[in-house]
Amino acid sequence: MNKTQSIVVASLMIGLGLASCNSGNMRRDPGRVYAPDMTYSRAYDAYTYNPNFADSESSRLPVPGTIAMGHELPDHLKEGDTTAYKTFTTSLRFSEDELKEGQRLFNIYCAICHGAELDGQGPLYKNGKFAAMPANFKDGKYLHMPVGQMYAAAKYGKNAMGSYASQLDKKQRWQIIAYIKQVQSQNGGDAFTLGTATAAAPQANAADSTATGDKNNKG
Ligand code: HEC
Repeated sequence: MNKTQSIVVASLMIGLGLASCNSGNMRRDPGRVYAPDMTYSRAYDAYTYNPNFADSESSRLPVPGTIAMGHELPDHLKEGDTTAYKTFTTSLRFSEDELKEGQRLFNIYCAICHGAELDGQGPLYKNGKFAAMPANFKDGKYLHMPVGQMYAAAKYGKNAMGSYASQLDKKQRWQIIAYIKQVQSQNGGDAFTLGTATAAAPQANAADSTATGDKNNKG
């Protein structure tokens, strides 16, 4: 191929290349829109300009003071405030189904140590893999433990027991504690007050705890 031939070939190729780009008449038409309601949202897209707000942003924060459905106000229980633990409680009340869910969560997160029977004989402890004895919720030492103290243990942990704050939300923590309290009430503990059936005030430290317990099976 001599010089002239290569120039001809090269310019042909450049010409073809440019023609294939069709730069004068760009084909950017997406064609027919079959579902315009879906293609062109009538709602404001998250990051688009929004004339309805002073800052023109479409992504909004929740209105201050709003609470997500199914949640309570944040608790202000401080770690280590053992005085507050004793009176801290919840306004939540649980149905039988929710208590069953509490049991399910207990069996997932707590029973490995505290035992499905709540007797502190979970497999991890029984097999000698865990040195510290988990609380035996059927023992007198724990039967009348204030719910706030239990809540604090679930939220912040207690000595060898870790915190469950990241695994269980507030409602789930209370749900588990309600389940423990329900079982305790059937094993010599205080009368159960966290169920929906009982409108009574949240559990207090019963002054005379034996009064309610004796009629129950101590199992
Ligand atoms: C890895 C084992 C382990 C798991 C899992 C565990 N615990 Fe514990 N828990 C312990 C031990 C050990 C103690 C005793 C701590 C102490 O008194 O030194 C304890 C103590 C407690 C106490 C008594 C707190 C107090 O103030 O004396 C409560 C209430 C409790 N646990 C609730 C729970 C709940 C609810 C769960 C599940 C969300 C759970 N635990 C999961 C090991 C565990």
